[in-house]
Amino acid sequence: MLGWGCVFPLTFLIQQYSSTRNGYPRQLQSYFSGSVNYKSLNEHTMVSVDGEQENTADTDAEVTFHVVGDAYVDFFSFLDGEWPESGGDSRLDQPVKCYAGGSSVNTATHLKALIKNFTEEPKPKVILHTVLNPDDHYGQMLLDHADEHDIPIDNCRRDDDNLSTGHCIAIVSGGERSFMTHQGVVGNFGADDLDVDKIAKTSTHLHLHIAGFYNIPGFWNGKLKRKLEAVREIRKEMYPDRNTTISLVTQHDATREWDGGLSDLFPLLDFVFMNDLEARSIIRCGCESSKNKRIEFEHEHMQWADYFGRQHPTSNAIVTRAEKGSVALRGKKILSKQKPIVMNSIDPTGAGDSFTAGFIYGLWSWRSSSTQQKTGIDEKWPTEAIEEGMRWGVSVASAAVMIRGASIPPDSTEIKKFLEQAIEPEYPVFDNGYSQISSCY
Ligand SMILES: Nc1ncnc2c1ncn2[C@@H]1O[C@H](COP(=O)(O)OP(=O)(O)O)[C@@H](O)[C@H]1O
Ligand SMILES: [Mg+2]
Repeated sequence: MLGWGCVFPLTFLIQQYSSTRNGYPRQLQSYFSGSVNYKSLNEHTMVSVDGEQENTADTDAEVTFHVVGDAYVDFFSFLDGEWPESGGDSRLDQPVKCYAGGSSVNTATHLKALIKNFTEEPKPKVILHTVLNPDDHYGQMLLDHADEHDIPIDNCRRDDDNLSTGHCIAIVSGGERSFMTHQGVVGNFGADDLDVDKIAKTSTHLHLHIAGFYNIPGFWNGKLKRKLEAVREIRKEMYPDRNTTISLVTQHDATREWDGGLSDLFPLLDFVFMNDLEARSIIRCGCESSKNKRIEFEHEHMQWADYFGRQHPTSNAIVTRAEKGSVALRGKKILSKQKPIVMNSIDPTGAGDSFTAGFIYGLWSWRSSSTQQKTGIDEKWPTEAIEEGMRWGVSVASAAVMIRGASIPPDSTEIKKFLEQAIEPEYPVFDNGYSQISSCY
C-alpha cells in the first residue's frame, strides 16, 4: 500500500550511494546481478518491468492509456515550523520521505489504481513513456514503483545520455508545496524520443496524456505538436472508427515565460489541465504578446473561459483551484464546476495529477457506461462526460491530499465516500457562462 512510502532519510541514501564501489547503494546491487537486465529497458523497448515484451495491441479492453512525461524521485520534507533563514536551520518533526514522483508517474499510478479497484475485466492498460537512468538508484526506485503498480515503462532515454534520473526536493509547508528540482535526463527528453508510431498503432481507443509539459523543454515550440499531429494522422488512416483523445497538463513553467508554443497545441488537445496559478500566468503572458488583448471580466472564471475558448473552440480547459474547487471551460463558456470536498489537506503535492487521473477515469467510465457513442469518432466529449470526469477528479484528489506523497493511491473506500459528496452538476449554464452568478465559488 505504501509504495515508496518507506522512510529513506536523504543522508542515509547519500551515505549509501557514496559508500559502494560502483556508486549503487548496497541494497540495490542485487538488481545488477539478477535475471532482469534493466539496461535493456532503453530505446523504445516497450517492456513490462518484469522484462516481458509488452504487446500494446493485445487487449480486449475498450481503451489503452498512454501517459507521457516527466519522472522524478521526490524527497519530501514536511516543514511544520518556519522556513530556515539563509545560513540557518529548521527542525523537521518527521523524517524526510522518498517517493516516486513526476507528473506522469503520479497520474499513471493513480489511473492504474482506479482501473484496478473500479473496473471489471478486461482492464485497460496504462503505459508510461518517460525517461530515467536505470544505472542509478533513483532510476531503480522508479522501476520498482512501476513494477509494484504493474505499469509497463517505455524508457525513452537516449543511449548516450548519462545524466542521472531526475530528482527533486519537495517542501510541504503551510498547505502549499515548493520544489527544488534536478532535472537530469528529463532535461534532455525530446519529442523525437517518443515512439509515436507505436503509440498511434494502439488498436483500441486511445487516450494519450502528456504530463508536465513545462518541465520538458524538448516538447516546446512545435516539437510535441508535430508528434501529436502524426498520432492523429496515423489513427485517422488506420483506425477511423476508434476514438483518439489527447490531454495535457501544463505544470509550472520554471522559466516564467509561459509560452513554449502552448497556444499552437490547443487544436490538437481535447483537454488541457492546469491549476489557477498556471492559468493566470499563461493568460498574463499570452495577453502581453501582441495577438491577445486583455479584457476585464466580472469573474475570473469568465476570463479563463474567454481566453482558452479563443485558443480553440472545442478544446476543454480544466482549471483546478486547490481548496476553491475546479471548473471546466469550453467555447468561452463554463461547462461544469465542482466544489472542494475536504477542507484541510495533509499534503497537496500532486493534487493536480491525482485530479487528472480521476478525471480521465471518470470520462472513460462514462463512455463505457453510456449507450451512445460506443464507436465512431467523437467530435467532442459531451458535457455529461465532462461532469463525470469532474466528479471523479475532485473525489480522487480529495482522497489523495489526505495522504502524504503524490504517487500513493488512496483507498477505494475513501474515493467512494467522496464520490457521494461530489456535487450534482448545475443547470442551466446561461449564455454568459454562469449557471448562477452567485455560485462562483
Ligand atoms: N487544500 C486543499 N483542500 C481541498 N482540496 C484540495 C486542496 N488542494 C487540492 N485540492 C484538490 O485537488 C485538486 C487539484 O489541486 P490544485 O492545487 O488545484 O492542483 P495542483 O496540484 O496542480 O496545484 C483541487 O481541485 C481540489 O479538488
Ligand atoms: Mg496547488
